[in-house]
Amino acid sequence: MGDRQHDRQHAPIGFLDSGLGGLTIWDEVRSQLPSESTIYIGDHEYQPYGKRRAPEIRRRVKRLIGFLLQKKVKMVVIACNTATVTGIDLYRRWYPRVPIIGVVPVVKTAVSLTKTKHIAVLSTPNTAGSTYQKRLITMYAGDCTVENIGIPDLATSIERGDTNKAIEKIVRKYLDPVVLHTVDVIVLGCTHYPFIRPVIARLVGEKIRIIDSGAAVGRHVTRVLDQEQLRSVSHAPYTEFYTTGDAAQVSRVASGLLARALSFTYARL
Ligand code: DGL
Repeated sequence: MGDRQHDRQHAPIGFLDSGLGGLTIWDEVRSQLPSESTIYIGDHEYQPYGKRRAPEIRRRVKRLIGFLLQKKVKMVVIACNTATVTGIDLYRRWYPRVPIIGVVPVVKTAVSLTKTKHIAVLSTPNTAGSTYQKRLITMYAGDCTVENIGIPDLATSIERGDTNKAIEKIVRKYLDPVVLHTVDVIVLGCTHYPFIRPVIARLVGEKIRIIDSGAAVGRHVTRVLDQEQLRSVSHAPYTEFYTTGDAAQVSRVASGLLARALSFTYARL
């Protein structure tokens, strides 16, 4: 194996999100690929993306990818549904030399699981209103009734480290109990939401399955690394966390969410 290929294999995988939500994806990828080094950046200065305008999100994502490439990542995971549906094709066009993996709601999986043919997708208002999401629903869920629910402020509340009670109040406002009578699968279409799965589960009861994109993204990342012969076999993988926001506050909330100590460094972008 040439030196360059060896260096590429040992290069880290880059992750980006508007904030800490992407950690749910990062965590899953790390558990599927424990030999990989990783670099994570959360754009806290500009969150939430769920309410920002598309051109601004694209401009920010361009910068974040640029930052990750300076850190010599071998792959970029856009660990944010909103950022993905707002411009994944564009990001790939801007940076054609690096594999870019997006995260979108697992509508197809939900359709394969539902018996009642009635599913709900919870995401940010931007994702819920996007053409991408509507296309996903038309393409895969034509024979189902789909509740496409954009929830404002939920990601922000998670980022604040709000109590379960406060979070439950927001979710309750958007989940109509009548609808929940026949829905049997809920898709978490925002990478922040797996952090509050227990709150949602308690609210909707045991009969409704709640699914997210983490495991599928982990498998996809593995497939692409294998295709490109980029799999690392390092025994000393490392991880670096960056934020464009307040590093101390972000580290505190992240450590709470993942129940282990994580330390973020400020990056001015
Ligand atoms: N985590 C992001 C997603 O998956 C968005 C959260 C936000 O609104 O910033 O959509």
